[in-house]
Amino acid sequence: MASQAPNQVPKAPVVAEAHEVDTYHPPQKMLDKHPSKPHLSSIEEYQQLYKESITQPEKFWGTKARELLSWSKDFQTVKSGSLENGDCAWFLEGELNASYNCVDRHAFANPDKVAIIYEADEPDQGRNLTYSELLREVCKTAHVLKQMGVKKGDTVAIYLPMIPEALIAFLACSRIGAVHSVVFAGFSSDSLRDRVIDAQSKVVITTDEGKRGGKLIGTKKIVDDALKNCPDVTHVLVYKRTGADVPFTKGRDWWWHEEVEKWPSYIAPEPMNSEDPLFLLYTSGSTGKPKGVMHTTGGYLLGAAMTGKYVFDIHDGDRYFCGGDVGWITGHSYVVYAPLLLGVSTVVFEGTPAYPNFSRYWDIIEKHQITQFYVAPTALRLLKRAGNHFVKHNMKQLRVLGSVGEPIAAEVWKWYFEVVGQEEAQIVDTYWQTETGSNVITPLAGVTPTKPGSASLPFFGIEPAIIDPVSGEEIHGNDVEGVLAFKQAWPSMARTVWGAHKRYMDTYLNVYKGYYFTGDGAGRDHEGFYWIRGRVDDVVNVSGHRLSTAEIEAALIEHDAIAEAAVVGVADELTGQAVNAFVSIKDGNEASDALRKEFILQVRKSIGPFAAPKSVYVVPDLPKTRSGKIMRRILRKILAGEEDQLGDTSTLSDPSVVDKIIQVVHENK
Ligand code: WT7
Repeated sequence: MASQAPNQVPKAPVVAEAHEVDTYHPPQKMLDKHPSKPHLSSIEEYQQLYKESITQPEKFWGTKARELLSWSKDFQTVKSGSLENGDCAWFLEGELNASYNCVDRHAFANPDKVAIIYEADEPDQGRNLTYSELLREVCKTAHVLKQMGVKKGDTVAIYLPMIPEALIAFLACSRIGAVHSVVFAGFSSDSLRDRVIDAQSKVVITTDEGKRGGKLIGTKKIVDDALKNCPDVTHVLVYKRTGADVPFTKGRDWWWHEEVEKWPSYIAPEPMNSEDPLFLLYTSGSTGKPKGVMHTTGGYLLGAAMTGKYVFDIHDGDRYFCGGDVGWITGHSYVVYAPLLLGVSTVVFEGTPAYPNFSRYWDIIEKHQITQFYVAPTALRLLKRAGNHFVKHNMKQLRVLGSVGEPIAAEVWKWYFEVVGQEEAQIVDTYWQTETGSNVITPLAGVTPTKPGSASLPFFGIEPAIIDPVSGEEIHGNDVEGVLAFKQAWPSMARTVWGAHKRYMDTYLNVYKGYYFTGDGAGRDHEGFYWIRGRVDDVVNVSGHRLSTAEIEAALIEHDAIAEAAVVGVADELTGQAVNAFVSIKDGNEASDALRKEFILQVRKSIGPFAAPKSVYVVPDLPKTRSGKIMRRILRKILAGEEDQLGDTSTLSDPSVVDKIIQVVHENK
């Protein structure tokens, strides 16, 4: 039994808890309007099941895997391997197919049920797809990929905006055993190129253009640019979204609508071993090069289905709306897999919360009578600021309001609860990562009491540990602070970094032996509730997007005029954190607004617009130790206006640079 299991009697606080906050119980009105009742009857039932999931993981997960997923061949071994060895595997011998689980079984039972509610960028241009239509489209597209030479185990790069065809592409890949590698359609051609090469993808799927917030995005052009340096790509499948006149490379580029027409509407799903890879998703780490996080089939799907069922309390008639993009893990798990595995309707929203105006989310929720809504706090901050008059809607069906990707401030939490949810929906602040596959610390809607700002309690199978980063020892008991790790494997954890298992071990499993290290700081309060404090590594979180400072620095120094660069994240009212860059320039260059703009453009070009620094400070030199290590701590303090708290600067090779940097920051603020 875990020593900090949340069901133990809370100990008397050791330290006065900084978060004396109200506890909110699942709203009675939410229970009153529930179509039946939440999947769990009480917090005690959660505690009992949680205990079983930790002490008897094989019994717990074996039962759930057979209950929620359809296996073409049953498994015998629920779990093998260890965190120490980095060889965790689940449901060995078992065989299943992701697209069968997401589509076929619902298409047989309920062919006319809506699978996808497509809300196009323009409010009146969407459409619905039923499960039987989805099955047909997935099968036809699977044929096309096969015809292009895609085989079981091959990766396929998907560079698509938020349209139904993105989901069709995911599922077409999995149907034939191909591994999808989705690249967010906001990434630049250079980033796309790096991911295509690293994943060794030979096929890329894209659109002629994308449309978002009334603006056009030249997706095909970006793909063309990227592929100039990807000689191994043999085929590009292009979905016609806008009808723009785009150049076609003969023999390589194919129109989606012309190709799918040639094929029958059924193809048998490929039986996959539970541990066969389902997808790669690149994410940023502490070093410059993005990691291709690999998820496998059985465990990942179970994590998505389980959290969909228990965290979001999904029931048969629900209409689920996750505002995340399919280019990130949130979209993978909660636009695509969780709702489709559970056979409900999922919204695919192409646009932005601000177009045509700040009511767009609420319009969608009202129009489709959405039951669960899931979004990042950055969008909520924007909408809260826009004003409550945009939120005057009938959203009576809402039972669950999810938050994801970054800490949610108490006042935003309360606004979400009171103004959006009318105190009739439960807020679930879900903590997780690309690597965890699905929610790991989170309330269960209808069950868990919540405190604004806390992600609350661990999900089934997650055994959190707070570790003292200095000693590396686990800190037991409540009212403690440290870094967050997990001491048991769970089904949906990433299995490796594509082509770099050592990097996987060193980043997650070798930091504290026997634990999975999250990279986040966290506290556990007097009642065993978890409070996520943010990253303890060089990862910044801008609008819920994870960026590596090292990656942005690497992009900056590609510019001819830049000698050295240091990037830090600073608190930002709207985006949570913002990227600020300090650069020193080479002799013969003059600091100017035009040059600073060029530097920002450089980052947009090499990574993507979402990574662009908010400010660039051109300084004579960076604060470095004698061994040449840049002291980013000093830069963070200066930006926070804490110049009097710089700490020891005597280890700097030239302490006088500090005053010069302070001067530049003041002049440019
Ligand atoms: C990092 C993971 C997981 C989906 C989106 C981001 C931060 C995530 C929360 C939360 C506070 C959160 C962490 C984590 N984070 N959820 N509820 N409260 N912080 O996925 O890009 O893999 O980033 O996002 O710092 O490590 P990601």
